[in-house]
Amino acid sequence: MMNNYRFTDKVAIVTGGARGLGKATALLLAQQGAAVVICDVRRELADNAVDEIIDKGGRALSYAADISNANDVEDLVASTVDYFGTVDILVNNAGIMRTTSPAESIPAEEWSGMFDVNVTGVFQCMKAVLPIFKERRSGKIVNVSSSAGRSMSTFNGAHYTACKAAVLGLTRHIANEAAPYNVNVNAVAPGSFATEGGLELVAGAPPEALEAEAKKIPMRRFGKPEDHANLVAFLCSEESSYITGATVDINGGDLMM
Ligand SMILES: NC(=O)c1ccc[n+]([C@@H]2O[C@H](COP(=O)([O-])OP(=O)(O)OC[C@H]3O[C@@H](n4cnc5c(N)ncnc54)[C@H](O)[C@@H]3O)[C@@H](O)[C@H]2O)c1
Repeated sequence: MMNNYRFTDKVAIVTGGARGLGKATALLLAQQGAAVVICDVRRELADNAVDEIIDKGGRALSYAADISNANDVEDLVASTVDYFGTVDILVNNAGIMRTTSPAESIPAEEWSGMFDVNVTGVFQCMKAVLPIFKERRSGKIVNVSSSAGRSMSTFNGAHYTACKAAVLGLTRHIANEAAPYNVNVNAVAPGSFATEGGLELVAGAPPEALEAEAKKIPMRRFGKPEDHANLVAFLCSEESSYITGATVDINGGDLMM
């Protein structure tokens, strides 16, 4: 495994790390020396991702947890500390996407279910690590929002747009509270990436339609999970130590603000 050891001795939790953007992030952090805890509701996929890291010489642990459940999140952080000794990095990546549109057709349970994961889950994970980060006076949090939170979603419904905008507000508020403790809290706003979750949203669409969507992006392609992972790793590193409360766009020029 190629390794520049940017994260030697660091312990990272990546939520939703079993596949897609989260998995690419978990693999990169592990490649760069971090011990990684992959938290996901998809237990088998999380185990597979952990095996992949260990096979490449990295350190990783799989943890089956639902971030919308406060007890699960507390256990996740306690188990991480038990197993690896501490936690230094939280990548709040887990999220769900739904196409239901127009707004008046969104069932109440789908609305609240999406907020439970995409907003409350993100908050609960930050709440669980912040006491550790503040006491040690160091720590990195990266919250995965979306271009949807900066503008509006292309493929998802209004609930997704609202959740991802809420993540940006949460990021700024907690960044302000945590900054005096030398804790960085930032958000990333990915555009369109052809992950498993992203492709499920457009399941059934002909390949030509997807190709046409990609061509609308100024860089003429969807993002690769590795593009995203590189940005997240930068925001988890000491190289970004004076960046906090920021939202960093990564969208091939699709949304310029
Ligand atoms: N793919 C895109 O184009 C895109 C664009 C913008 C933002 N995002 C955001 O990036 C993040 C990752 O997206 P992706 O495309 O990799 O999605 P994905 O569906 O491929 O992966 C998401 C992972 O999160 C896990 N997960 C879902 N709910 C969970 C929960 N309650 N607790 C724990 N784990 C849970 C899933 O099991 C899955 O492994 C999401 O927050 C998504 O909203 C994705």
